[in-house]
Amino acid sequence: MPITRRPLRIAPSILASDFARLGEECRAVLDAGADWLHVDVMDGHYVPNITIGLPVVKSLRAALPDAFLDVHIMIDNPDVMGPRFVDAGADLVCFHPEASRHPHSTIQRIHDLGGKAGIAINPGTPLSCLDYLADDLDLILIMSVNPGFGGQSFIGNTLPKLHDLQDKLTAMDVDIDVQVDGGVRAENAAAIRRAGADILVAGSAIFKQQDYAEAIAAIRHQASLVDTV
Ligand code: DX5
Ligand code: ZN
Repeated sequence: MPITRRPLRIAPSILASDFARLGEECRAVLDAGADWLHVDVMDGHYVPNITIGLPVVKSLRAALPDAFLDVHIMIDNPDVMGPRFVDAGADLVCFHPEASRHPHSTIQRIHDLGGKAGIAINPGTPLSCLDYLADDLDLILIMSVNPGFGGQSFIGNTLPKLHDLQDKLTAMDVDIDVQVDGGVRAENAAAIRRAGADILVAGSAIFKQQDYAEAIAAIRHQASLVDTV
């Protein structure tokens, strides 16, 4: 059955940017046509890598008041830290349910602070983790690599999982954004969009290219081909 798609959005992951020139890099991708900025927060516990945290989100919020800050927290204790990222200026906070003791309450607290809330689902995590939560969410992130590092290859069975997710959301009568993160590039953007993704996160496929506008346009073009059929 054809999927009713929400508008396509491209979210460059700043993990692949030059952190020494972060503000400049963010402005460059926004000027090049990015819809959201995807901010990967890692704590060295939930995933074996450390990136950035609250002060950086706060600075980005101040420097880029109109940018949509999509903050993906790959950290322990999202129940405490998730709401603090909304306070720091995140528009959306997406957390991993395995790391949370009280996911429903965390979603509520993010909402109470005026943020949007998402759940990130790892390649090995079943979609059943959405049961009793999906109704309250703004976004579901399907991880197409294991979290922790940029530049990995897209895991193929993400595509059938996305189809299963569409079936599940239809059965639950839930209509929310679906995001895909990890190994996204122009070459697989159409297949990912066809499987039901609304927001494509791409790090290396944008920031490791010479021309950001060209890189974003190529992903958007490939994914949009699906919308016209
Ligand atoms: C992985 C991160 C991704 C990553 C994507 O843990 O959540 O956002 O930066 O990078 P690429 O597009 O290079 O796979
Ligand atoms: Zn991410």
